[in-house]
Amino acid sequence: MTKPTFYVTTPIYYPSDKLHIGHTYCTVAADTIARYKRLTGYDVMFLTGTDEHGQKIEEKAKEAGVTPQQFVDRIVTGEGGILDLWKLMNISNDRFIRTTDDYHVAAIQRIFKKMYDNGDIYKGAYKGKYCTPCESFWTESQLVDGKCPDCGRPVHDAEEEAYFFRLSKYAEPVQKLLESGTFLEPASRVNEMINNFIKPGLEDLCVSRTSFSWGVPVDFDPGHVVYVWVDALFNYATALGYMNDRYHDFDKYWPPHNIVGKEIVRFHSIIWPAMLMSVGEPVPAKVYGHGWLIIDGGKMSKSKGNVVDPYLLAGKFGVDALRFFLLRTFPFGTDGNFTNELLINTINADLANSLGNLVSRTTAMIEKYFGGTLPPEREADPLDDELLGMIASTAGRYEKQMDAFQLHLGLEEVFRLIGRANKYIDETMPWVLAKDEARAPRLATVLYNLLEALRVSLILLTPFIPDSCEKAFAQIGAEGDCRSWEKAAVYGALPADVKVTKGDTLFPRIDAAKMLEELEAMNKPAPTADPVLPDVSIDDFARCDMRVVKILSCEAVKKSQKLLKFSCDDGSGTPRQILSGIHAFYEPEQLVGKKVAAILNLPPRKMMGLDSNGMLLSAVRTVDGKEDLHLMIVGDDVPVGSRLC
Ligand code: ME8
Ligand code: MG
Repeated sequence: MTKPTFYVTTPIYYPSDKLHIGHTYCTVAADTIARYKRLTGYDVMFLTGTDEHGQKIEEKAKEAGVTPQQFVDRIVTGEGGILDLWKLMNISNDRFIRTTDDYHVAAIQRIFKKMYDNGDIYKGAYKGKYCTPCESFWTESQLVDGKCPDCGRPVHDAEEEAYFFRLSKYAEPVQKLLESGTFLEPASRVNEMINNFIKPGLEDLCVSRTSFSWGVPVDFDPGHVVYVWVDALFNYATALGYMNDRYHDFDKYWPPHNIVGKEIVRFHSIIWPAMLMSVGEPVPAKVYGHGWLIIDGGKMSKSKGNVVDPYLLAGKFGVDALRFFLLRTFPFGTDGNFTNELLINTINADLANSLGNLVSRTTAMIEKYFGGTLPPEREADPLDDELLGMIASTAGRYEKQMDAFQLHLGLEEVFRLIGRANKYIDETMPWVLAKDEARAPRLATVLYNLLEALRVSLILLTPFIPDSCEKAFAQIGAEGDCRSWEKAAVYGALPADVKVTKGDTLFPRIDAAKMLEELEAMNKPAPTADPVLPDVSIDDFARCDMRVVKILSCEAVKKSQKLLKFSCDDGSGTPRQILSGIHAFYEPEQLVGKKVAAILNLPPRKMMGLDSNGMLLSAVRTVDGKEDLHLMIVGDDVPVGSRLC
């Protein structure tokens, strides 16, 4: 019999920096879903990857002094990079797509052409507000307080000749799709999409760029590159061989279950199905918008620098403990506040105490009372009924939650069973039974029931903490078929004379105070400065004519929000005019009479019709996406015309 198929994906992440615990959260969740589906008999395709094109990456590479391809290669395949992180986290993806892969690039060109040929992509001119970090164009009305509605950072005016996708044409079918039950989950996100984006009117989407080149070229119109979100969204299809010959299982696995963070639900639940409708392919089986991990109320983000390092945590606590914590603590659909205390408490309470203790106590008692092997004689008691009932029924309830991607509720079912088993030890008091040889069959029954509760729990925990379950299965003597989904709701799968092996402690208890101190100590202030640029020669440096000038007068340039016009004494006898875009930081009257550093031999530049002969030097830093600028003002005792060297 052929197995049913199941296709699950993560977002493809931007390799603009190292990934953090937020990305790890999403990938671990998708991995757990994939493992759960495999466990329950599906032929699973699990895809993750990287979204490597776009202006942001191009800029980052330039800053780093390398090509964009070199830049992303280092972050994706380099030591400690994204591939290494997924290996460390025991991610079982079947494929990894990089949007710079040749087959994907060629497929995107064909897909773009297909939508152009069918009339859904046309040429026009784009005027709008652009958020560079988000790679998103916005209309005036979409801005929140004049800022990007996704990330809250400033946007800038942008205009260019561009191709457009007829998104407006798909407003109705997309709305129907959103309203049709389970396409988009959690359900709360459906109204958000309809009210915020569909109701105000869907505008056609700008799907090409000419302002930079790091992207998939539009092959029939040189100079244009495909908008990075079109390039990115279709990864889910090209990775199965759609419009390319690299793979051949599009028909087998399509449509996908796209798991994405809530900030990109708009792309996945509106633009993505519209484009699939345009090319005539089925829309996703589901788009699931999970919540954010936040720190002190704010989203963790690479550009904000407030990130938690998954390498560090996995190293300190173990991969399974970290995986478990992420899925046990935070309901998948809503935001969750990350703290180290919560992490430690969860590991101690659930893994060290509830689960770990049940394994070690049960195996220790079987070793102590029966030398490791249970005698097959049994003696039942009504005290057993509730536990045996839960052994038979937990998997069914778990299955319901897991199928709805309610992973934390799936775990809750398992821990209810584990809690019940721990209580059963107190109720049956095996240490009392052990004192009376005649009660040996009863004692063996109690211990067998505990093993069965553990066996079932471990089957259900396998998708979450695969390595630890493997070890625990071996300790309780559960081999082969005993570990299968088919036996997850069946009491009595372990052989009556099962043999246990006491092993290493699965989850050592963490000394919370000590660990918090250690973490604190390791929490060195993150580097706040950009990396140092590649070397320049001393001669190149010497050719830069930088000197101290005195500001004679300063005024704002009319019609410009940013520009100030300076007249400076550079020691030559003739005042020098310099323009500088620093009005956001200084008022003219603050600067008159000040001595500042300037570079004088840059080629003259025209700004707003005025000449600028040089540049005032400033110390500049970006904090929370905002520029922080300080002119290099020097002491009054430094003579005008002094060279900086
Ligand atoms: O958006 N909490 O990539 P990206 C939880 N390339 N999840 C988080 C998170 C946090 N604090 N931070 C990130 C992109 N994530 C595009 C996607 S898909 C065709 C293209 C997770 O690197 C979450 O799943 O910004 C989010 O949607 C994703 O990382 C964004 O990663
Ligand atoms: Mg993002």
